[in-house]
Amino acid sequence: MATRPAMGLLSRMTLRKTVEQVQRETQTSELKRTLGAWNLVFLGIGCIIGAGIFVRTGNAAALHAGPAVLLSFLVAGIVCALAGLCYAELSSTLPVSGSAYTYSYTTIGEFAAWIMGALLLLEYGLAASVVAVGWAGYVVSLLGDYGVVIPVELTGPTGHHVQKAGVDILVNGAPVEYLFNLPAFLICIALSCLLVVGVSESAKVNNVIVAIKMTVIIAFILICGWFVIQHYDTLKQNWDPFIPPSTGDKGEFGWGGVFRAASIVFFAYIGFEAVSTAGQEAKDPKKDMPVGIIGSLVVCTILYILVSIVMTLIVNYKELNVPDPVAVAVDALGPQWAWFAQIIKAGAIIGLTSVVLVLMYGQTRIFYTMARDGLLPRVFATVHKKFKTPWVNTLAVGIITAFAAGFFDINVLGDMTSVGTLAAFAIVCLSVIWLRRTHPEIPRGFKVPLYPVLPALGIVACGALILTVEWRVLVFFFWYTLAAIAMYFAYGMRNSRLYHGLDDEAGPEMGEYVGPTHH
Ligand code: ALA
Repeated sequence: MATRPAMGLLSRMTLRKTVEQVQRETQTSELKRTLGAWNLVFLGIGCIIGAGIFVRTGNAAALHAGPAVLLSFLVAGIVCALAGLCYAELSSTLPVSGSAYTYSYTTIGEFAAWIMGALLLLEYGLAASVVAVGWAGYVVSLLGDYGVVIPVELTGPTGHHVQKAGVDILVNGAPVEYLFNLPAFLICIALSCLLVVGVSESAKVNNVIVAIKMTVIIAFILICGWFVIQHYDTLKQNWDPFIPPSTGDKGEFGWGGVFRAASIVFFAYIGFEAVSTAGQEAKDPKKDMPVGIIGSLVVCTILYILVSIVMTLIVNYKELNVPDPVAVAVDALGPQWAWFAQIIKAGAIIGLTSVVLVLMYGQTRIFYTMARDGLLPRVFATVHKKFKTPWVNTLAVGIITAFAAGFFDINVLGDMTSVGTLAAFAIVCLSVIWLRRTHPEIPRGFKVPLYPVLPALGIVACGALILTVEWRVLVFFFWYTLAAIAMYFAYGMRNSRLYHGLDDEAGPEMGEYVGPTHH
């Protein structure tokens, strides 16, 4: 293996790929520029609307913010917009198709890229598990409506007590415990098998699924909104108080609770940055990228706020800590609306399936790129001869996400995802500042306005939201990051192909994996 002359540790850790290198690596002649601004907005919405609004809003309102969860959505939306502007600048400056991992590799350097890879495992891999658990909640509920009952022990996180309306269910005086979440486990395995054989969503399928999700949500807003108007005099008491007083515990109601809930519902926005990965397929990336990113964020923020307004007016926030809060709100309209609750559940199941698929696909693509860079074992870039997909990598992602979804609690998984993603966004904001200072000469199609205030505000806002989560999650995150740093020095730094000057050779067994495009 060729080696470069010894260099100082700092220069080594900030070794960067050039834009030309990345472009050469990601050059695929199949990519046509066919996506306009609206396609990009739809692409974003396809990844964004999922378990965040369909599941986690209920938890955030019930345990942290009460009806003021709508303010939490506003706060989280603003934080995402700050990061979104930075994504837009990077995607219009570095015309490479890739994720935040590639941006870090070309701006700050290899160490930042490695840390970004570890954070993206939380953002994509763990997020897929969260959405799979949300999917399972709606599946169990819908099957229950048709009399198909999955044993309750097989529908929740290992060791947690089965509860009804917040109270433990007792059998012979002892609480019943969940063994594991079978449906959530199975959907992860099934979707990874589909990804191995090359099933992926085209833009057309994505548009249909987005249409289903939007229809379900808009119908919810209209029907429930109409109900609220009819019964406003009785329902308005559900908003009294709008911000329930703090219990004294960190993040439980009061303004602290509003910000704590913002870190929870932040999950609902994850995915908007997927728009930036379609840079090579956009008709006019300089104009369409910012519109795609910010447009999808704005549409989702409006929908989320409207959903949380009607949800917390129809049902008292204390009753929303359930796996299917949107359906519970519809149930409150009365038995004559049972059919609509079932349509909501079916729509949620279809929508959530596609989000799990997209997130898993994103994770396999990151592992694949890292393996090609030598930062992960080469087997993660091995392409299946027949299916032309990175099958070992995809099965590994399936197994990791299935275990997380099968055995862990959605709230803990969701918090870890939020923390990892917020840290990743902070690095993206930092990359903008870094690149402006190191390469002011590169032409930028789109520039973050009010530079450097907005990117700096993005970093501070992401850091502040991270600090609102529970201590045990922060402690886990600390050890996770420390382990990632240790692994960089033990493995990544030693095997980096960029450092060894092998960046142009993919290696015969890796083949060329032309991932699905957004057409
Ligand atoms: N934003 C996506 C969701 O809420 C990840 O499911």
